[in-house]
Amino acid sequence: MSTTYITTPIYYVNDRPHIGHCYTTLLADVAARAHRLTGSDVFFLTGTDEHAEKVSKTALEHNKTPMEWATINADRFKEAFGFMNFSHDDFVRTTESRHKTKAAQYIQQLVDSGDIELGDYQGWYDPSQEEYLTETVAKENDYTSPVTGKPLEKRVEQNYFFRLDKHEAWLKEQIQSDQIRVLPQARKNEVLGRFAQGLQKVPVSRRIKQGDADWGITMPNDPDHRIYVWIEALCNYLTVVDTPEREKYWPATVHLMAKDILWFHAVIWPAMLRALGREPPAMIYAHAYFISEGRKMSKSLGNFIEIDQLQAYAERFSLDALRWYLLTQGPLGATDADFAYQRFVEVYNADLANGIGNATSRVGNMIVKYFDGIMPECDTPATPNDSPLVTECKNIAEQFAQSCSDMAIDQAALLGTRLAGKVDEYISQTRPFSLAKQREEPENEQQLRRILQDCAETLRIATLLLYPAMPWKMAQLWRTWNCNHLTDPDDPNSSFVAPLAELAQWNSPYSIKPGQLIAKGEVLFMRADAKLAVPAP
Ligand code: MSP
Repeated sequence: MSTTYITTPIYYVNDRPHIGHCYTTLLADVAARAHRLTGSDVFFLTGTDEHAEKVSKTALEHNKTPMEWATINADRFKEAFGFMNFSHDDFVRTTESRHKTKAAQYIQQLVDSGDIELGDYQGWYDPSQEEYLTETVAKENDYTSPVTGKPLEKRVEQNYFFRLDKHEAWLKEQIQSDQIRVLPQARKNEVLGRFAQGLQKVPVSRRIKQGDADWGITMPNDPDHRIYVWIEALCNYLTVVDTPEREKYWPATVHLMAKDILWFHAVIWPAMLRALGREPPAMIYAHAYFISEGRKMSKSLGNFIEIDQLQAYAERFSLDALRWYLLTQGPLGATDADFAYQRFVEVYNADLANGIGNATSRVGNMIVKYFDGIMPECDTPATPNDSPLVTECKNIAEQFAQSCSDMAIDQAALLGTRLAGKVDEYISQTRPFSLAKQREEPENEQQLRRILQDCAETLRIATLLLYPAMPWKMAQLWRTWNCNHLTDPDDPNSSFVAPLAELAQWNSPYSIKPGQLIAKGEVLFMRADAKLAVPAP
């Protein structure tokens, strides 16, 4: 069985989660569910990055110890991810000993191999991001933080350094040749562009000063130095699976994140892994940002879309509708995307209420009305190659798997809405409701049965493709139509009874068969009125 390892960044716990954190984790969840559906053995990891200076600082402002504050926020992340129905296999906190011990071992290994060495460092430090910037980047940004706009600090210190420079040629080759795929393409070009300046050594520690909070992991060979949080944090991807039961998942299939932290993942991390004698990740995927109603989200504007706002959307439109909007309208590509109410309603009505929702209720209702909700026998041959819908469904599992392995998971999901659209077209062309008015003609009766069966079967396949984005709603329909896809039909998070290539076969053991009960069921997605006010917490 193939294995798949999907990760999200581990998030800082200085504050509560917001839409951005949920978005990346949603992408990982949809990708994880899609890979599970295709039959892969998936490990999906998310978690929190706790040893940052900003965590101990905000803890102090809240009259809490760093650990207390980290726990409060880590719990908020866990709760938010529970609400979003994310299916992560583990949630790592970097304050856990399983992470700390292994991270320190890796650092020691790099000291022993000479990949980490002591030296003087002078540079431009961005305190808000806890990172050093190169002279070029600092100058480009007028010696202010490219993220927060606050002034950079000139700092000189004795540090341990990771010899990133040693890996320049290898890294460039790996990225250029797509051995390490950096996506989207625009991001790959940017990373390769930065190689022109040459790769420098990277500081990996800071000397502990008086008054520093006792927070973080110290250098294993030198307790006067604390490991720089970024270096330690990157190690989480390996610490969690560096066990006999989980080592089969390495190397990672994809590390997901936004463009802000691409360099660490595409350059520093693969070089560290090489120095550790481990394989580099297969893909680094850096999406763009969500903005809010046309404006960049920031603390000063106070316009972060928070969890309670997302909950209000989920309450009105359903959680799966929220997941759908984020997935298909989000910044998966190279450009930022807007979270905007009017657009939400448009997409909801077009794709869900008038799309898959309408198609399934139309077909379901006709089966209920004309056949008392029992899928009828059909005299026409069981291999109806003449139906245009069969052609649409052919190779659909392969197309789906291909899109998923390119991380085009929005496109993979849209294959499902496309199939639903084809069913609608087919109904308009073949007019089963007119045939139903003249059923005494045996030919009409047979045609009516064939059409409904083909439509129901196509929709069944469509819902499989839509499942990773909308597991609850699709499982709900499968219960109404008695489709046996899940090991526990009542639990949308249970495993599939077979891989997609089998499930999505026309005329398979999983197909809708004569005699199968098709209930009317609840409407999946009620039409929404854009004139209603924006959902408020
Ligand atoms: N702790 C580091 C990551 C270490 S990974 C070894 C960190 N944490 S963070 O809390 O700041 O999270 C940054 C990530 O949150 C982004 O890379 C992205 O995944 C997500 N997002 C934060 N804001 C976002 C948007 N506005 N839009 C989309 N995603 C965003 O950096």
